[in-house]
Amino acid sequence: MSKPIRKAVMPVAGLGTRVLPGAKTVAKELLNVVDRPIIAYAVAEARAAGIEHIVMVTGRGKQALEDYFDHHIELEAQLAAKGKTELLAEILADLPKAGEMSFVRQMRPLGLGHAVWCARDLIGDEPFAVILPDMLMAAERPALAQAVDAYDKVGGNIIVVEPVAEEDTHRYGVVALEGGRENYAGRGAPTRMQAMVEKPAQGTAPSNLIVSGRYILQPEIFDLLSAQEAGAGGEVQLTDSMVKLMATQDFHALEYDGVTYDCGDKIGLLRANVAFALMRPDLGAEARSAVEALLRA
Ligand code: G1P
Repeated sequence: MSKPIRKAVMPVAGLGTRVLPGAKTVAKELLNVVDRPIIAYAVAEARAAGIEHIVMVTGRGKQALEDYFDHHIELEAQLAAKGKTELLAEILADLPKAGEMSFVRQMRPLGLGHAVWCARDLIGDEPFAVILPDMLMAAERPALAQAVDAYDKVGGNIIVVEPVAEEDTHRYGVVALEGGRENYAGRGAPTRMQAMVEKPAQGTAPSNLIVSGRYILQPEIFDLLSAQEAGAGGEVQLTDSMVKLMATQDFHALEYDGVTYDCGDKIGLLRANVAFALMRPDLGAEARSAVEALLRA
C-alpha cells in the first residue's frame, strides 16, 4: 500500500505582477473571492483531501498570510460581544489547529522548484501534495481529493491536468502521455505520462493537457531539486526535476472533474468572483440579478 499523503506545500511567495497594483501591499493570495481570501479556499481543499499539515512557502511582504491563520483576539471578542456567532464561527473555521501549519521563507524568488525545495525539511521522507493556491478549483469532490483517490489506486506521482486551447499551452507546463492521445484514459482516470515540458514554444506542445496546479510527489524530488538548475525563464522549475524523476518513478496525469480559475490574473480573478458568488446559496440570486443588470446597461 502507498504511504498516505499527510502534508501539503503551498508556494505563496510570488509577487502577483499580473494583479498589481493591488498586490503591492496585499499578498495576492489574500485577495478576496467573494468574501474569503484565495488562500482559505486552498486550505479548505487540502483539509478535504485529508491533509494534516500545511507548509506555506512565503516571502517578503507576506506576513499578513500568517496573521490570517492566527487568532484575532480583538475581532473575535467584538463579534462575540455583538452576538455575531455565525460570522465568528466562519472566521474560526479557517484556522488551523495548533501546530498544523508551518511557514518557511523563500528568501529569493528563484522559481517554483526552488520554493518547493525550501519545504524539504518540513516534509521529510514521505510523499506530499503541492497546491498552487492561485489556481482556484471549483469541484464537487475537491480537486486534491480527486488526486489522492488516483494516488490510492496507482501510487507514485500524480499530476492534475486539464485541457486548454492549443494557443494557450505556451503559458504552462504541458504533459505528454505514454502512447500519445490515443492512450488517454479520459477525465477521472489516471493515465501514464511519458514526458513534460515547461512553457513550450508556440506550436511545439506535446499535447493540450496542462499542469494545472495540484501535484502528489514522492520525496526523492527534493534530491533532484537540490541541483537548482535554472530552466525556462531562468527559474528553477519544478517541471524539470519531475522530468528527471520520471526516469525512475511512475507519473500519472489526472484530468480532474471541475473548473479552474487562475486568480493570479485580472480576468481570472473576476471570473472566480462572479462564479463563486453565483454558486453561493446565500448570495446566488442577488449576484445573478446584479450581473444581469450590469450586462443590460
Ligand atoms: C507554474 C508551473 C506550470 C503550471 C502553472 C499552473 O507556472 O511551473 O507548470 O502549468 O504553474 O499555473 P507559473 O504559473 O508559476 O509560471
